[in-house]
Amino acid sequence: VAGVRVFVPRERAPAETRVAATPETVKQMLAAGLEVTVEEGAGERACFLDAAYERAGAKLVAGSPEAWRAADLVVKVCGPVASDALGGVDEAEVLREGAVLVGFLAPHRSQALAERLSARRLTALAMELVPRITRAQRMDALSSQASIAGYKAVLVAASHLPKYFPLLMTAAGTVKPARVVVMGAGVAGLQAIATAKRLGAVVEASDVREAVKEQVESLGAKFIPLPKMEERGEGKGGYAREMSAAFLAEQRRIVGSHLVEADVVITTALVPGKRAPVLVPAEVVRAMRPGAVIVDLAVEQGGNCELSVAGRDVREGGVLIVGHPNLPATVPYDASLLYARNVWALCATLLRDKKLVVDLEDEITRGALFTHDGVVRYEMAAAAPPPREAAAG
Ligand code: NAI
Repeated sequence: VAGVRVFVPRERAPAETRVAATPETVKQMLAAGLEVTVEEGAGERACFLDAAYERAGAKLVAGSPEAWRAADLVVKVCGPVASDALGGVDEAEVLREGAVLVGFLAPHRSQALAERLSARRLTALAMELVPRITRAQRMDALSSQASIAGYKAVLVAASHLPKYFPLLMTAAGTVKPARVVVMGAGVAGLQAIATAKRLGAVVEASDVREAVKEQVESLGAKFIPLPKMEERGEGKGGYAREMSAAFLAEQRRIVGSHLVEADVVITTALVPGKRAPVLVPAEVVRAMRPGAVIVDLAVEQGGNCELSVAGRDVREGGVLIVGHPNLPATVPYDASLLYARNVWALCATLLRDKKLVVDLEDEITRGALFTHDGVVRYEMAAAAPPPREAAAG
Protein backbone atom coordinates (compact mmCIF):
# COMPACT_ATOMS: atom_id res chain seq x y z
CA VAL A 1 0.00 0.00 0.00
CA ALA A 2 1.22 3.49 -0.80
CA GLY A 3 1.96 5.58 2.30
CA VAL A 4 0.19 8.79 3.17
CA ARG A 5 1.20 11.45 0.68
CA VAL A 6 1.82 14.87 2.21
CA PHE A 7 2.04 18.05 0.16
CA VAL A 8 3.58 21.26 1.46
CA PRO A 9 2.61 24.16 -0.82
CA ARG A 10 4.08 27.63 -0.98
CA GLU A 11 1.68 30.04 0.72
CA ARG A 12 0.04 32.50 -1.62
CA ALA A 13 -1.90 34.72 0.78
CA PRO A 14 -0.53 38.27 0.53
CA ALA A 15 2.47 38.88 2.81
CA GLU A 16 2.44 35.34 4.17
CA THR A 17 6.07 34.30 4.56
CA ARG A 18 5.69 31.24 6.76
CA VAL A 19 5.63 27.60 5.75
CA ALA A 20 3.78 24.72 7.41
CA ALA A 21 6.58 22.15 7.31
CA THR A 22 10.31 22.61 7.81
CA PRO A 23 13.16 20.23 6.98
CA GLU A 24 12.98 19.15 10.63
CA THR A 25 9.32 18.10 10.47
CA VAL A 26 9.78 16.63 6.98
CA LYS A 27 12.34 14.25 8.47
CA GLN A 28 9.88 13.30 11.20
CA MET A 29 7.12 12.70 8.65
CA LEU A 30 9.38 10.46 6.60
CA ALA A 31 10.44 8.56 9.71
CA ALA A 32 6.74 7.97 10.42
CA GLY A 33 6.37 6.39 6.96
CA LEU A 34 4.81 9.31 5.08
CA GLU A 35 5.78 10.45 1.59
CA VAL A 36 6.53 14.15 1.48
CA THR A 37 6.36 16.47 -1.51
CA VAL A 38 7.29 20.12 -1.13
CA GLU A 39 6.52 22.86 -3.63
CA GLU A 40 9.64 24.56 -4.93
CA GLY A 41 10.31 27.75 -2.97
CA ALA A 42 7.79 26.83 -0.24
CA GLY A 43 10.16 27.70 2.58
CA GLU A 44 12.29 30.28 0.86
CA ARG A 45 10.86 33.37 2.55
CA ALA A 46 11.29 31.66 5.91
CA CYS A 47 14.94 30.86 5.07
CA PHE A 48 14.33 27.14 4.54
CA LEU A 49 15.76 26.52 1.09
CA ASP A 50 14.73 23.80 -1.36
CA ALA A 51 18.10 22.09 -0.92
CA ALA A 52 17.45 21.70 2.82
CA TYR A 53 14.10 20.01 2.15
CA GLU A 54 15.80 17.77 -0.40
CA ARG A 55 18.50 16.83 2.08
CA ALA A 56 15.76 16.02 4.58
CA GLY A 57 14.35 13.57 2.01
CA ALA A 58 11.43 15.48 0.48
CA LYS A 59 10.60 15.44 -3.19
CA LEU A 60 10.54 18.95 -4.71
CA VAL A 61 7.88 19.69 -7.33
CA ALA A 62 6.22 22.64 -9.07
CA GLY A 63 2.93 23.67 -7.47
CA SER A 64 0.80 22.14 -10.21
CA PRO A 65 -2.81 20.94 -9.85
CA GLU A 66 -1.39 17.38 -10.05
CA ALA A 67 0.68 17.96 -6.91
CA TRP A 68 -2.43 19.05 -5.03
CA ARG A 69 -4.59 16.25 -6.42
CA ALA A 70 -2.07 13.56 -5.49
CA ALA A 71 -2.05 14.56 -1.83
CA ASP A 72 -3.80 12.79 1.04
CA LEU A 73 -2.73 15.52 3.45
CA VAL A 74 -1.96 19.16 2.71
CA VAL A 75 -0.35 21.24 5.44
CA LYS A 76 -0.76 24.99 5.17
CA VAL A 77 -0.37 28.17 7.16
CA CYS A 78 -3.36 30.14 5.82
CA GLY A 79 -6.70 28.95 4.51
CA PRO A 80 -7.04 28.07 0.81
CA VAL A 81 -6.86 30.94 -1.70
CA ALA A 82 -7.06 31.33 -5.46
CA SER A 83 -3.61 30.47 -6.73
CA ASP A 84 -1.59 31.66 -9.72
CA ALA A 85 0.05 28.22 -9.82
CA LEU A 86 -3.41 26.73 -10.37
CA GLY A 87 -4.40 29.18 -13.09
CA GLY A 88 -6.39 31.27 -10.62
CA VAL A 89 -8.36 28.31 -9.26
CA ASP A 90 -8.93 28.07 -5.50
CA GLU A 91 -6.65 25.62 -3.71
CA ALA A 92 -9.64 23.93 -2.08
CA GLU A 93 -11.05 23.10 -5.52
CA VAL A 94 -8.08 21.03 -6.66
CA LEU A 95 -7.79 18.83 -3.58
CA ARG A 96 -9.29 15.40 -4.04
CA GLU A 97 -12.42 14.48 -2.09
CA GLY A 98 -11.64 13.12 1.34
CA ALA A 99 -8.20 14.72 1.51
CA VAL A 100 -7.11 16.25 4.81
CA LEU A 101 -6.28 19.96 4.99
CA VAL A 102 -4.60 21.47 8.05
CA GLY A 103 -3.98 25.16 8.69
CA PHE A 104 -5.15 28.40 10.27
CA LEU A 105 -8.61 28.32 8.69
CA ALA A 106 -10.20 31.15 10.73
CA PRO A 107 -13.26 29.03 11.62
CA HIS A 108 -14.87 31.85 13.61
CA ARG A 109 -14.89 34.04 10.54
CA SER A 110 -15.37 31.87 7.50
CA GLN A 111 -18.83 30.42 7.09
CA ALA A 112 -18.37 30.58 3.31
CA LEU A 113 -15.09 28.66 3.55
CA ALA A 114 -16.75 26.06 5.78
CA GLU A 115 -19.40 25.50 3.15
CA ARG A 116 -16.85 25.28 0.33
CA LEU A 117 -14.69 22.80 2.21
CA SER A 118 -17.58 20.59 3.20
CA ALA A 119 -19.05 20.69 -0.31
CA ARG A 120 -15.69 19.34 -1.50
CA ARG A 121 -15.93 16.68 1.25
CA LEU A 122 -12.56 17.73 2.65
CA THR A 123 -11.47 16.89 6.15
CA ALA A 124 -10.32 20.28 7.38
CA LEU A 125 -8.59 20.70 10.72
CA ALA A 126 -8.31 24.26 12.00
CA MET A 127 -5.28 24.96 14.18
CA GLU A 128 -7.37 27.57 16.01
CA LEU A 129 -9.76 24.87 17.23
CA VAL A 130 -7.18 22.55 18.82
CA PRO A 131 -8.47 22.18 22.38
CA ARG A 132 -6.35 23.62 25.18
CA ILE A 133 -5.70 20.40 27.03
CA THR A 134 -2.33 19.24 28.31
CA ARG A 135 -1.95 16.56 25.62
CA ALA A 136 -2.45 19.19 22.90
CA GLN A 137 0.07 21.75 24.15
CA ARG A 138 2.60 20.76 21.49
CA MET A 139 -0.07 21.53 18.87
CA ASP A 140 -0.96 24.94 20.24
CA ALA A 141 -0.21 27.10 17.24
CA LEU A 142 -2.25 30.04 18.54
CA SER A 143 0.16 30.26 21.46
CA SER A 144 3.37 29.73 19.48
CA GLN A 145 2.41 32.49 17.05
CA ALA A 146 0.89 34.82 19.67
CA SER A 147 4.14 34.76 21.59
CA ILE A 148 6.02 35.87 18.48
CA ALA A 149 3.47 38.60 17.82
CA GLY A 150 3.83 39.90 21.38
CA TYR A 151 7.61 40.01 21.09
CA LYS A 152 7.63 41.69 17.70
CA ALA A 153 4.93 44.21 18.65
CA VAL A 154 7.31 45.68 21.21
CA LEU A 155 10.17 45.88 18.72
CA VAL A 156 7.90 47.59 16.16
CA ALA A 157 6.78 50.06 18.81
CA ALA A 158 10.35 50.69 19.93
CA SER A 159 11.50 51.34 16.37
CA HIS A 160 8.77 53.99 15.88
CA LEU A 161 9.03 55.60 19.31
CA PRO A 162 10.93 58.90 19.33
CA LYS A 163 12.40 57.88 22.69
CA TYR A 164 14.66 55.36 24.37
CA PHE A 165 13.06 52.42 26.20
CA PRO A 166 15.51 52.16 29.13
CA LEU A 167 16.36 54.54 31.90
CA LEU A 168 19.74 56.04 31.03
CA MET A 169 22.17 58.01 33.09
CA THR A 170 24.29 60.04 30.70
CA ALA A 171 26.79 62.84 31.04
CA ALA A 172 24.04 65.08 29.70
CA GLY A 173 21.66 63.97 32.41
CA THR A 174 19.05 61.31 32.99
CA VAL A 175 16.71 59.89 30.37
CA LYS A 176 13.44 58.56 31.74
CA PRO A 177 12.37 55.04 30.81
CA ALA A 178 9.50 54.55 28.38
CA ARG A 179 6.09 53.72 29.84
CA VAL A 180 4.42 50.71 28.25
CA VAL A 181 0.83 49.60 28.82
CA VAL A 182 -0.17 46.11 27.68
CA MET A 183 -3.90 45.44 27.31
CA GLY A 184 -4.67 41.74 27.53
CA ALA A 185 -2.00 39.67 29.28
CA GLY A 186 -2.50 36.26 27.65
CA VAL A 187 0.22 34.57 25.64
CA ALA A 188 0.95 37.57 23.38
CA GLY A 189 0.59 40.10 26.19
CA LEU A 190 2.90 38.27 28.60
CA GLN A 191 5.58 38.01 25.91
CA ALA A 192 5.13 41.73 25.15
CA ILE A 193 5.57 42.50 28.85
CA ALA A 194 8.72 40.37 29.08
CA THR A 195 10.19 41.95 25.94
CA ALA A 196 9.41 45.52 27.03
CA LYS A 197 10.95 44.78 30.45
CA ARG A 198 14.11 43.40 28.83
CA LEU A 199 14.41 46.66 26.90
CA GLY A 200 14.15 48.55 30.17
CA ALA A 201 10.65 50.05 30.00
CA VAL A 202 8.28 50.57 32.93
CA VAL A 203 5.39 48.23 32.17
CA GLU A 204 1.76 48.04 33.29
CA ALA A 205 -0.86 45.56 32.14
CA SER A 206 -4.59 45.04 32.22
CA ASP A 207 -6.64 41.86 31.81
CA VAL A 208 -10.09 40.69 32.85
CA ARG A 209 -8.86 37.36 34.20
CA GLU A 210 -7.83 37.53 37.87
CA ALA A 211 -5.28 34.73 37.47
CA VAL A 212 -3.18 36.96 35.27
CA LYS A 213 -2.27 39.43 38.04
CA GLU A 214 0.36 37.10 39.49
CA GLN A 215 1.86 36.31 36.07
CA VAL A 216 2.12 40.00 35.24
CA GLU A 217 3.77 40.77 38.57
CA SER A 218 6.22 37.88 38.25
CA LEU A 219 7.49 39.54 35.07
CA GLY A 220 8.13 42.74 36.98
CA ALA A 221 5.16 44.66 35.61
CA LYS A 222 2.29 46.33 37.45
CA PHE A 223 -1.26 44.98 37.18
CA ILE A 224 -3.86 47.70 36.63
CA PRO A 225 -6.71 46.93 39.04
CA LEU A 226 -9.98 45.58 37.62
CA PRO A 227 -13.32 47.28 38.08
CA LYS A 228 -14.80 46.37 41.47
CA MET A 229 -17.78 44.49 40.08
CA GLU A 230 -19.23 41.04 40.54
CA GLU A 231 -18.29 39.88 37.04
CA ARG A 232 -15.37 37.50 36.54
CA GLY A 233 -13.45 37.34 33.29
CA GLU A 234 -12.55 33.63 33.28
CA GLY A 235 -14.28 31.75 30.47
CA LYS A 236 -13.88 28.27 29.03
CA GLY A 237 -10.51 26.67 28.24
CA GLY A 238 -8.44 29.43 29.86
CA TYR A 239 -9.94 32.06 27.55
CA ALA A 240 -11.75 35.21 28.58
CA ARG A 241 -15.53 35.65 28.61
CA GLU A 242 -17.26 38.50 26.87
CA MET A 243 -17.75 41.17 29.54
CA SER A 244 -20.84 43.35 29.95
CA ALA A 245 -20.92 46.83 28.46
CA ALA A 246 -20.97 48.29 31.99
CA PHE A 247 -17.84 46.36 32.96
CA LEU A 248 -15.98 47.40 29.82
CA ALA A 249 -16.99 51.05 30.34
CA GLU A 250 -15.64 50.97 33.91
CA GLN A 251 -12.48 49.20 32.75
CA ARG A 252 -11.94 51.86 30.05
CA ARG A 253 -12.32 54.55 32.71
CA ILE A 254 -9.71 52.95 35.00
CA VAL A 255 -7.26 52.13 32.21
CA GLY A 256 -7.76 55.50 30.49
CA SER A 257 -5.69 57.38 33.05
CA HIS A 258 -2.79 54.94 32.47
CA LEU A 259 -3.11 55.13 28.69
CA VAL A 260 -2.80 58.90 28.51
CA GLU A 261 0.54 58.66 30.34
CA ALA A 262 1.86 55.86 28.12
CA ASP A 263 4.52 56.05 25.43
CA VAL A 264 3.63 52.64 24.02
CA VAL A 265 0.38 50.68 24.15
CA ILE A 266 0.28 47.07 23.00
CA THR A 267 -3.24 45.64 22.77
CA THR A 268 -3.87 41.90 22.54
CA ALA A 269 -7.32 41.44 24.12
CA LEU A 270 -9.44 38.79 22.44
CA VAL A 271 -12.56 36.81 23.25
CA PRO A 272 -12.84 33.62 21.14
CA GLY A 273 -15.42 33.92 18.38
CA LYS A 274 -16.36 37.50 19.28
CA ARG A 275 -15.37 40.92 18.10
CA ALA A 276 -12.37 42.18 20.09
CA PRO A 277 -13.39 44.52 22.93
CA VAL A 278 -12.76 48.22 22.31
CA LEU A 279 -10.39 49.25 25.10
CA VAL A 280 -8.74 52.32 23.56
CA PRO A 281 -11.48 54.66 22.30
CA ALA A 282 -10.74 57.53 19.92
CA GLU A 283 -10.99 60.17 22.66
CA VAL A 284 -8.28 58.42 24.67
CA VAL A 285 -6.00 58.28 21.61
CA ARG A 286 -6.54 62.04 21.18
CA ALA A 287 -5.53 62.60 24.81
CA MET A 288 -2.34 60.53 24.52
CA ARG A 289 1.18 61.94 24.41
CA PRO A 290 2.60 63.08 21.08
CA GLY A 291 4.95 60.42 19.74
CA ALA A 292 3.08 57.61 21.47
CA VAL A 293 2.75 54.34 19.55
CA ILE A 294 -0.14 51.90 19.73
CA VAL A 295 0.31 48.40 18.28
CA ASP A 296 -3.07 46.70 17.97
CA LEU A 297 -2.61 42.93 17.75
CA ALA A 298 -6.39 42.42 17.80
CA VAL A 299 -6.83 44.41 14.58
CA GLU A 300 -8.01 41.40 12.55
CA GLN A 301 -10.75 40.71 15.10
CA GLY A 302 -11.99 44.29 14.84
CA GLY A 303 -9.28 45.91 16.96
CA ASN A 304 -8.92 46.93 20.60
CA CYS A 305 -8.28 50.49 19.47
CA GLU A 306 -11.21 52.24 17.90
CA LEU A 307 -9.00 53.89 15.27
CA SER A 308 -6.83 50.98 14.13
CA VAL A 309 -7.10 49.71 10.56
CA ALA A 310 -5.87 46.26 9.49
CA GLY A 311 -2.80 46.51 7.30
CA ARG A 312 -2.32 50.24 7.82
CA ASP A 313 -0.39 52.65 10.01
CA VAL A 314 -2.85 55.32 11.13
CA ARG A 315 -1.80 58.71 12.53
CA GLU A 316 -4.14 60.51 14.89
CA GLY A 317 -2.64 63.79 16.04
CA GLY A 318 0.79 62.86 17.33
CA VAL A 319 -0.08 59.20 17.92
CA LEU A 320 0.83 56.35 15.57
CA ILE A 321 -1.48 53.31 15.49
CA VAL A 322 0.09 50.23 13.92
CA GLY A 323 -2.47 47.73 12.59
CA HIS A 324 -0.17 44.99 11.31
CA PRO A 325 -2.40 41.96 10.74
CA ASN A 326 0.30 39.32 10.77
CA LEU A 327 3.37 40.06 12.87
CA PRO A 328 4.39 36.38 13.15
CA ALA A 329 5.04 36.50 9.39
CA THR A 330 7.72 39.13 10.05
CA VAL A 331 9.67 36.56 12.10
CA PRO A 332 9.17 33.80 9.53
CA TYR A 333 12.02 31.47 10.46
CA ASP A 334 11.10 30.88 14.08
CA ALA A 335 7.38 31.28 13.42
CA SER A 336 7.60 28.47 10.83
CA LEU A 337 9.87 26.35 13.00
CA LEU A 338 7.31 26.37 15.82
CA TYR A 339 4.21 26.28 13.63
CA ALA A 340 5.52 23.28 11.68
CA ARG A 341 6.09 21.41 14.95
CA ASN A 342 2.53 22.26 16.05
CA VAL A 343 1.12 21.05 12.73
CA TRP A 344 3.10 17.82 12.68
CA ALA A 345 2.16 17.04 16.29
CA LEU A 346 -1.51 17.36 15.31
CA CYS A 347 -1.16 15.32 12.10
CA ALA A 348 0.73 12.58 13.94
CA THR A 349 -2.32 11.98 16.14
CA LEU A 350 -4.28 11.00 12.98
CA LEU A 351 -1.82 8.26 12.01
CA ARG A 352 -2.85 4.66 12.63
CA ASP A 353 -0.83 1.91 10.93
CA LYS A 354 0.59 4.52 8.55
CA LYS A 355 -2.90 5.61 7.50
CA LEU A 356 -4.79 8.80 8.28
CA VAL A 357 -7.73 7.99 10.50
CA VAL A 358 -10.27 10.59 11.62
CA ASP A 359 -11.31 9.32 15.02
CA LEU A 360 -14.30 11.30 16.27
CA GLU A 361 -13.80 9.79 19.72
CA ASP A 362 -10.45 11.55 19.99
CA GLU A 363 -10.86 14.80 21.90
CA ILE A 364 -8.19 16.63 19.91
CA THR A 365 -9.41 15.51 16.49
CA ARG A 366 -13.03 16.17 17.37
CA GLY A 367 -12.17 19.62 18.70
CA ALA A 368 -10.00 20.63 15.74
CA LEU A 369 -12.34 19.37 13.00
CA PHE A 370 -13.78 22.21 10.95
CA THR A 371 -15.35 20.14 8.18
CA HIS A 372 -15.51 16.38 7.67
CA ASP A 373 -17.43 13.99 5.44
CA GLY A 374 -19.55 16.75 3.92
CA VAL A 375 -20.50 18.23 7.28
CA VAL A 376 -19.48 21.54 8.85
CA ARG A 377 -18.37 20.32 12.26
CA TYR A 378 -17.42 23.57 13.90
CA GLU A 379 -20.82 24.73 15.12
CA MET A 380 -21.50 21.20 16.27
CA ALA A 381 -18.19 21.05 18.09
CA ALA A 382 -18.96 24.33 19.84
CA ALA A 383 -22.25 22.94 21.12
CA ALA A 384 -21.00 19.36 21.53
CA PRO A 385 -21.97 17.37 24.60
CA PRO A 386 -19.16 16.70 27.08
CA PRO A 387 -16.78 13.81 26.27
CA ARG A 388 -18.31 10.35 26.60
CA GLU A 389 -16.58 9.47 29.86
CA ALA A 390 -18.09 12.56 31.50
CA ALA A 391 -21.55 12.04 30.02
CA ALA A 392 -21.63 8.40 31.09
CA GLY A 393 -21.06 9.26 34.78
P1 NAI B 1 -6.59 35.31 23.80
O1 NAI B 1 -5.62 35.53 22.69
O2 NAI B 1 -7.92 34.78 23.49
O3 NAI B 1 -6.78 36.70 24.59
C1 NAI B 1 -5.70 37.49 24.99
C2 NAI B 1 -5.94 38.07 26.36
O4 NAI B 1 -6.93 39.08 26.31
C3 NAI B 1 -6.43 37.05 27.40
O5 NAI B 1 -5.54 37.02 28.49
C4 NAI B 1 -7.81 37.59 27.79
O6 NAI B 1 -8.12 37.32 29.14
C5 NAI B 1 -7.62 39.06 27.53
N1 NAI B 1 -8.85 39.87 27.48
C6 NAI B 1 -10.07 39.55 26.97
N2 NAI B 1 -10.93 40.57 27.13
C7 NAI B 1 -10.25 41.56 27.76
C8 NAI B 1 -10.58 42.88 28.23
N3 NAI B 1 -11.81 43.38 28.08
N4 NAI B 1 -9.61 43.59 28.82
C9 NAI B 1 -8.37 43.12 29.00
N5 NAI B 1 -7.99 41.89 28.59
C10 NAI B 1 -8.93 41.12 27.99
O7 NAI B 1 -5.97 34.36 24.91
P2 NAI B 1 -4.58 33.59 24.92
O8 NAI B 1 -3.50 34.53 25.11
O9 NAI B 1 -4.51 32.68 23.75
O10 NAI B 1 -4.75 32.65 26.22
C11 NAI B 1 -5.15 33.15 27.44
C12 NAI B 1 -4.68 32.22 28.53
O11 NAI B 1 -5.08 30.87 28.30
C13 NAI B 1 -3.18 32.12 28.69
O12 NAI B 1 -2.61 33.18 29.35
C14 NAI B 1 -3.06 30.84 29.48
O13 NAI B 1 -3.26 31.08 30.85
C15 NAI B 1 -4.19 30.01 28.97
N6 NAI B 1 -3.67 28.99 28.05
C16 NAI B 1 -3.79 27.69 28.40
C17 NAI B 1 -3.29 26.70 27.60
C18 NAI B 1 -3.40 25.28 28.01
O14 NAI B 1 -3.87 24.99 29.09
N7 NAI B 1 -2.99 24.33 27.19
C19 NAI B 1 -2.63 26.99 26.31
C20 NAI B 1 -2.58 28.40 26.03
C21 NAI B 1 -3.09 29.34 26.88
